Amino acid sequence: MLQLPQHIAIIMDGNGRWATQKGLPRSEGHKAGANSIDRLMETALELSIPYISLYAFSTENWKRPISEIQSIFQLLNEFIDSQLNKIHSNGIKIQHSGRVQRIPFMSFKKIYKAVQLTKNNTKMTLNFCLNYGGKEEILNACNKVIKKKIKNNDKLDKGITQEELEKELYTYPLPPVDLLIRTAGEQRISNFLLWQIAYAEIYFTNTLWPDFHKQDLFQALEWYSNRVRKFGGLK
Ligand code: FPP
Repeated sequence: MLQLPQHIAIIMDGNGRWATQKGLPRSEGHKAGANSIDRLMETALELSIPYISLYAFSTENWKRPISEIQSIFQLLNEFIDSQLNKIHSNGIKIQHSGRVQRIPFMSFKKIYKAVQLTKNNTKMTLNFCLNYGGKEEILNACNKVIKKKIKNNDKLDKGITQEELEKELYTYPLPPVDLLIRTAGEQRISNFLLWQIAYAEIYFTNTLWPDFHKQDLFQALEWYSNRVRKFGGLK
């Protein structure tokens, strides 16, 4: 019996390289990447994995050419339009993590609708990290806690607790990440879920995200099930 992670987070890297290798525009890579999300969702449901977080667009991705930014948000819109009914009937809850400001209005509306429609679903949470940055999230959470304390006339010199901060993370109430997967051979965190990955197992694969199939997830899960997790203690 495999020991399965509760929360899997994925840095879906390699869409651009996948397209370039095939002589296609980068937008085609992102399109193929969206299909990988669809496959992943189905496999995660079959395995009853309750939480999936996807790095769809980072606060740093605004540095890309406007045409590529538009193609990613367009794909997100299409993904929600074409998948929302299926997502909802499969009992999947959509969550958004990240700054709402700067997200194109049309995409924001679609995400908001998806979040509202699916808010009572309990089978799985699909957390789209969109306009997301880990440092920004932590800073935002600290500022929110401080503002609340000032509003409630609480003393600030006592500092803030982990629990108070965690409640203000974009990902709340998701549990910490157990398994972080990064595709396409890069071995870095890229400002993703910095707080939540404190004790995550990190799996790197050379497979490009559009080529990530069911068996690639199984390989990652098999690797994960052999990890001994000590959380700083002894075995
Ligand atoms: C990283 O690959 C991928 C992204 C920055 C965007 C991820 C977006 C998708 C998977 C499609 C969007 C669809 C939805 C439903 C949100 P890269 O472009 O950095 O690849 P490269 O390193 O090979 O250039």
